[in-house]
Amino acid sequence: MSGKKRVAVLVSGRGSNMAALIEAAGAPAYPAAIALVVSNVVDAPALARATAAGVPAVAIASAGKTRPAFEAALAAALEAARIEIVCLAGFMRVLSPGFVARRSGRLINIHPSLLPAFPGLDTHARALAAGAGRHGCTVHYVTAEVDAGPIIAQAAIEVRTGETVQSLAERVLAEEHRLYPLALALVAGAAPGAAI
Ligand code: GRF
Repeated sequence: MSGKKRVAVLVSGRGSNMAALIEAAGAPAYPAAIALVVSNVVDAPALARATAAGVPAVAIASAGKTRPAFEAALAAALEAARIEIVCLAGFMRVLSPGFVARRSGRLINIHPSLLPAFPGLDTHARALAAGAGRHGCTVHYVTAEVDAGPIIAQAAIEVRTGETVQSLAERVLAEEHRLYPLALALVAGAAPGAAI
């Protein structure tokens, strides 16, 4: 474990990218350890999935809290677990500019499009509607502007004839599961070691 960066994964839903990160981090040579999973949705399936994988998982409800109150609770959990890098993985809450700035270079996100194309939601439907020939996913540093931070890595696929939103979503998700562990390894090898 010594020398491995301590990582928290923030989730809101099913947690398939979180699971891919946990699995990759199980390899002895992987440069990061998943030390904590935090969900802002109390009944997110990701929580049970993390627990089953032996990773500490907590719910910090965002519903009913102000953004400063939610972020203070989140920051306390990250500090208590001595987290150095935070991965957003289907985390559906926008973080404040101050929270993001304090973790510059140590806060990353995966997005299901080839940014800067299709920031925001419904990326697969929008890519199909736009007649995009290529689509894919992006891991990027999080900045105050949503889905606009510096790009760390991308995976691209060709959009097939007869492609549906569902088939495209499945194929992009498979790329996400491959890309996110690679991108986290890059960041963990490069990020400064300060606690978050
Ligand atoms: C992924 O497509 C991710 O790119 C997007 O939300 C989805 C989360 O899926 N931000 P999961 O919870 O990782 O299965």
